[in-house]
Amino acid sequence: MFLDLAKKRRSVRRYLDRPVEREKIELCLEAARFAPSACNAQPWKFVVIDDPAKKERLRRAAFSGIYSVNAFAGKAPVLIIVFRTSGKLLPRIAGCFQGKEYPIIDIGIAGEHLVLQATDLGLGTCWVGWFNGKGVRKALNSPLGQKPVAIIPVGYPVPDKKKAVPRKPLEKISDLNPLKL
Ligand SMILES: Cc1cc2nc3c(=O)[nH]c(=O)nc-3n(C[C@H](O)[C@H](O)[C@H](O)COP(=O)(O)O)c2cc1C
Repeated sequence: MFLDLAKKRRSVRRYLDRPVEREKIELCLEAARFAPSACNAQPWKFVVIDDPAKKERLRRAAFSGIYSVNAFAGKAPVLIIVFRTSGKLLPRIAGCFQGKEYPIIDIGIAGEHLVLQATDLGLGTCWVGWFNGKGVRKALNSPLGQKPVAIIPVGYPVPDKKKAVPRKPLEKISDLNPLKL
């Protein structure tokens, strides 16, 4: 059942010193590729870094100084940098009218597809939004118009018995009988 997978996923911040098979990473990317997006713009690019020397350079660029709280991510065998690309004009214009950032919604969905596929393959991940974006762009020599939105470390999790982070109860986050309609 999908709900089991959704409940199984959690943020993993400690990884085994075991490489992650490229085929598994490709399956995760394939899951992201099938995500929906406003006007089918697919405004994303996933950059995969598993070479240790490159990963070290990225770790320093992304997680130094005030970003070092997320230094754990640099210890994962794989880092996936999720970029927002320029995408299509229509969702950007529609977004301006609506006060919504459709590309960011799109990237959230695609990234979560990736993360859930990773969970299904026994891999641990963590969404990381707090990092030095300018540093990452410089280190990767990213083209203008591409902005790193998140970094997703991927690795086999160190087993632990930590409890899941609690969630608000269903009645607080939903309204099954709206009265004012
Ligand atoms: C957009 C986004 C950004 C996040 N940024 C960070 C981050 O910078 N560092 C971190 O350790 N966790 C980060 N997280 C993970 C959340 O802290 C985590 O999902 C939340 O506490 C719920 O815990 P769980 O994922 O284990 O269920 C982020 C999650 C999301 C969705």
